[in-house]
Parts: sequence; structure tokens; C-alpha cells
Amino acid sequence: MNRIIAIVNRKGGVGKTTTAVNLAATMSAAGKRTLLVDFDPQGNATTAFGVQKDNGKPNVYDLLSGRTSLREAVQPIIGDGQLSIIPSTADLSGAEVELVNTRNREFRLRERLKSGERDFDLILIDCPPSLGLLTVNALAAAQGALIPLQCEFYAMEGLSQVLKTIEIIQQSIHTALEVEGILLTLFEENNPRNLVIAQEVRRHLDALILPIVIPRDPFLGAAPGFGRPGVWHHPWSPGSMAYLNLTTEMLLKERNA
Ligand SMILES: Nc1ncnc2c1ncn2[C@@H]1O[C@H](COP(=O)(O)OP(=O)(O)O)[C@@H](O)[C@H]1O
Ligand SMILES: [Mg+2]
Repeated sequence: MNRIIAIVNRKGGVGKTTTAVNLAATMSAAGKRTLLVDFDPQGNATTAFGVQKDNGKPNVYDLLSGRTSLREAVQPIIGDGQLSIIPSTADLSGAEVELVNTRNREFRLRERLKSGERDFDLILIDCPPSLGLLTVNALAAAQGALIPLQCEFYAMEGLSQVLKTIEIIQQSIHTALEVEGILLTLFEENNPRNLVIAQEVRRHLDALILPIVIPRDPFLGAAPGFGRPGVWHHPWSPGSMAYLNLTTEMLLKERNA
């Protein structure tokens, strides 16, 4: 397997799920056998792909708790393993509490994904909006952390907490974890606040900021209502094009690594 990437930020509404589903769709279109793990009890990535929750099929909580195998938990979106999802339901919210008293609690997800090493080129984990044990599990399983950032008030504050958490994980349980990059999302060129905060973030963390910026785009916002990622729903909209560019950028980086 090439890579596991966790999409992480302490804040909600910053474009984590939108990034996860659009990246999953474009990476699989580029030939990567892609698995999207919905690791948020809200299950937005599941809904965004039009996958029914509570349809009696196993979900990510069943996988994490060991009740089901990885193979059973994976649901195909595009056949032959090209694009698959492990859906999430509200059940997952109980996992955080249950994990506390288990052995190897930070490595549960990593262990459960291990058997997929040969089946997938890319595993994307859509994290919940917190830095709790679920997100720690995602970061412990991943090689890279991708951080969507909305250039609004308190963005820097939230960002430093995320980076601190990553640093702690690097120093304690997972030295090989890398920051994939910070992705500016929901960006409005005409919004002075966005511009000022983007400037500030760049001043402090320029090396980590990805060159592709995701604009605010109503087509991306509307797509989940149709059960399709924006890049399928409106491939030529500015937001979809930005996610396509992000994918190209990431693939080129990988090729040149
Ligand atoms: N670039 C964008 N343009 C317009 N709407 C967006 C964009 N990115 C996300 N959204 C919308 O903003 C809301 C929050 O995004 P989401 O990806 O669910 O964030 P998170 O997973 O961080 O909570 C959703 O309704 C989503 O459809
Ligand atoms: Mg989300």
C-alpha cells in the first residue's frame, strides 16, 4: 500500500469531509485503489457518497471493536476495489469511551486496517472535529496528516493545537508521521478577513501550506444533497477543479519523492 492519510482539524465545518470525499473520488479516478474510512460519528462522508447508514451492513464501529473484519466492513462505491468506503454511524461516538480502557488503545485502527495493505493504494480517514482518541487513532494509523484550514478568526489557534497534537504523536508513538500539508479551504478572494488570515498563516507556516487553495463554491456545498462528491456532480466548477489540481499536485509530489 502506498499511503494512509488522515484528514484532521479540531474544528468542524472547515472542509474536512468535503476534502476527504473529493480527494477519494479524484484519486480513484487517477487509478489509485482508494478506501475512504468515515471516522466521524456524524457520518457525513457516508452520506456524501449516498451510502445508506444503518442499512444493517457493518460500519466502522464494528470494525474498530473487532466485531467484523476489514473485508466485511468495506462497501464498494466503484467496483473491483477502485473506490470503497467504510461507513460510519452514531455508534462510533461510543467507541471513544470504550477505547479508554483497552490495551493499545491508540493503535486500534492501525491494527484493524493492516489486512488491507495489499488491497488499497490509498486510504483516506475523515476525522471527527476533535483531537480525542478517535483522531489519535487515525493519526497513529496514518503516514500523513492533511489539515484543511478555513481562514477565519481563531484559525491559528485551532491550527497550533492540531500541530501540537501531531508533534506529541510524533514524539511518543509514531515518529514517521508527516504533515502532508495545510490546505486552505472555503476561501473567498474578496473577503478581507480570509486574505489577512491567509497571510498570517503563511508568515508562520509557509512551508506547510499547500499551493492549491480550495475556493468557496456553492456547487461543492450542494453536492452532498445529491449523494455525490462535487467533482462528480459539477466537475468544471472552480471548487471541483481545485480538488482535481490538489490531486494532481499530490500525485506529482509522490512521483518525485
Ligand atoms: N469549498 C467549499 N465551498 C462551499 N461549501 C463548502 C466547501 N467546503 C465545504 N463546504 C460546505 O461547508 C460545510 C462544512 O464542510 P465539511 O466538509 O462538512 O466540514 P467538516 O468535515 O470539517 O465539518 C458543508 O455543508 C459543506 O458542504
Ligand atoms: Mg466532517
